[in-house]
Amino acid sequence: MNVLGIDIGGSAVKGAPVDTRTGKLLAERFRIETPDKVTPQRMGEIIAGIAGHFRWRGRIGAGFPGVVEGSTIRTSANLHKKFVGCDLGAIIEKAAKRRVRIINDADAAGMAEMQFGAGRGQKGVVLMLTLGTGVGSALFWRGVLQPNTELGHLPIRGKSAEKFIAASARRTRDLSWEEWGAELGDYVRILEKILWPELIVIGGGVSDKHRKFFKYMKTRARLVPAEFFNNAGIVGAALAGADNA
Ligand code: BGC
Repeated sequence: MNVLGIDIGGSAVKGAPVDTRTGKLLAERFRIETPDKVTPQRMGEIIAGIAGHFRWRGRIGAGFPGVVEGSTIRTSANLHKKFVGCDLGAIIEKAAKRRVRIINDADAAGMAEMQFGAGRGQKGVVLMLTLGTGVGSALFWRGVLQPNTELGHLPIRGKSAEKFIAASARRTRDLSWEEWGAELGDYVRILEKILWPELIVIGGGVSDKHRKFFKYMKTRARLVPAEFFNNAGIVGAALAGADNA
């Protein structure tokens, strides 16, 4: 099935049509900067605009950076608080006039990697972390997703871990790759003590620079970069959109 996959992020909203049988993008992705303090209604219009760009007539799957229950948003750490409690699925459906499925953005990225990328065929515990504006997580066992794990909010020094180890935090805290990589490594080792994954997949835009920081992370589990790099969120959102359940 072909589904329009959308990745809603703190810095940009990106979309592309995806062949959900192969995970391949069917056209070059279209990107719109996320406006400051964007409201759910405006987000609906932005996504309708992306659908219009592709003259899209099919289904839409969208990944959102927060906890998603059904099509309702429960948390919004890095976007407007007005998203919390709103039925974003219904808002997008109204604006784009298409059938829409919403999923947590990191869960989407993890689904793409499990199906077509670095987690293909892995039956044990797999942890995917996405490093971007925030830190997202997706946890799988026997290929099945445990939805809405929010491991980026594990408290460290009284704050959400993502404040220290997101890709954005490396820049705002002006850390070297070594300093940031070592902190990220400490955080991942805490997760390993609790979850015992056998494979850890690191995604987000920074994953294509993994050679700069993997060497400072000492993990028990095998540590690999996402194969989709920054497109996992789009592909996984499309997979969620294709799901009839
Ligand atoms: C949100 C997660 C999201 C992650 C990455 C966190 O702040 O709570 O739901 O997956 O950012 O966007």
